[in-house]
Amino acid sequence: MEKYIINGGNKLYGNVEIQSAKNSVLPILAASVLTDEKVTLVNVPHISDVRNMVNILSCLGCKAVYDGNNIIIDSSSADCFEIPSALAHELRSSVFLLGSVISRFRSAKIAYPGGCDIGLRPVDLHLTGLKRLGVKITEKNGYILCKCDKLSGNEIMLDCPSVGATENIMLAAVKAEGVTVIKNAAREPEIEDLQNFLNLIGAKVAGAGSGTIVIEGVKSLSGCEYKPIPDRIEAGTFLIGAAMCGGEITAEGVYPENISSLIHKLTENGCKIRIDNDKIVLENHRKLTSVKTIETQPYPGFPTDLQAQFTALCCICTGHSIVTENLFETRFKYVPELRKMGADVTVFGRNAFVRGVDKFKGAQVLAHDLRGGAALVLAGLAAEGRSEVMDISHIDRGYGSFEYKLRKLGADIVRVTV
Ligand code: UD1
Repeated sequence: MEKYIINGGNKLYGNVEIQSAKNSVLPILAASVLTDEKVTLVNVPHISDVRNMVNILSCLGCKAVYDGNNIIIDSSSADCFEIPSALAHELRSSVFLLGSVISRFRSAKIAYPGGCDIGLRPVDLHLTGLKRLGVKITEKNGYILCKCDKLSGNEIMLDCPSVGATENIMLAAVKAEGVTVIKNAAREPEIEDLQNFLNLIGAKVAGAGSGTIVIEGVKSLSGCEYKPIPDRIEAGTFLIGAAMCGGEITAEGVYPENISSLIHKLTENGCKIRIDNDKIVLENHRKLTSVKTIETQPYPGFPTDLQAQFTALCCICTGHSIVTENLFETRFKYVPELRKMGADVTVFGRNAFVRGVDKFKGAQVLAHDLRGGAALVLAGLAAEGRSEVMDISHIDRGYGSFEYKLRKLGADIVRVTV
């Protein structure tokens, strides 16, 4: 097990280059199973979720290798439609492979997915959508078994705009016969990115970014070189960190419009923010003011993946804040850990009631999930004294070179093997 040791109190200054979005790279890797031609993904982060997805592709018989910061995938040799439980449990996004694997083999067998322990995370919408395209689904001994003679386009109305279900249905529909229409589709930027990738390899997808996506099935797909969009959650995490620690940082290579909900909130907090094309400059030298209320929503609302980091910020603002988590049931597991660092937060159901304190105090805390773990690191950076964040494997799922990037900004953080 590895941990971070952090000596808090340093202000953050300098530039940080933002990685490609984890949540774009994963479904695009899943999509690469749909073509026999070579796909090269550029500027891919070295994170364990991506490495696990690459392992799953290898298990399916694809050749998938890292080449520096790129990943090259050749799926022409794919010959297996089963994802065993050991691999699926490492990565919730393995469920995104259902759509592309069933499209390729007319069969798929995937163990129930793993991923962050942040709530029930059912997959019913994925399965209902696939059934509408003609897939027969049974569930046995922890496996989802899918079969079909052919995939046929259909209209699918999602009960809620699930990101994963939207992407999975897109992947299954790309080579289906006829037209598929997804209504109440998720509108996250990563879905538009998946559409752009699919169209580049010859698919006919339109409407991503809106609530209705139309997919006209095509017979075959080609290869391409593709650079996924920047990671808005990584960028947001660094910006929140700089707001908490004070200083001035520039997040480079970002699409500022993709995190406008956060930029608005940080401005309300009292940060100075400047946008210069693909750069966001955040400056703060003062105690921050609470934003009173904030709630997570599907895009373009405030992202659930920044909720923990923003709650950590609320803890050291002047005044009270109420943070409401609308997407996942148990996404406040980091709160007892923040309390060990002196935070005054109480959770009732979906709400966290935060009373601002002067400062965090260094403590030993345990990361329970990816974003909660990142929030604890930010709290440690802003704290007085020394902190230890234990079990940082959760953080490695989503942040590439996290401590290097933070150290470059002036933070005192090291990784230690326990
Ligand atoms: C994706 C992101 C994750 C982010 C989340 C919400 C990836 C790899 N992960 O996760 O980082 O936190 O979007 O922005 O892209 N739901 C159902 N039934 C389903 C599917 C979802 O009820 O079949 C519910 C979930 O319980 C949750 C809500 O829908 O309450 C949103 O989940 P969803 O958008 O599917 O999240 P993920 O795709 O798992």
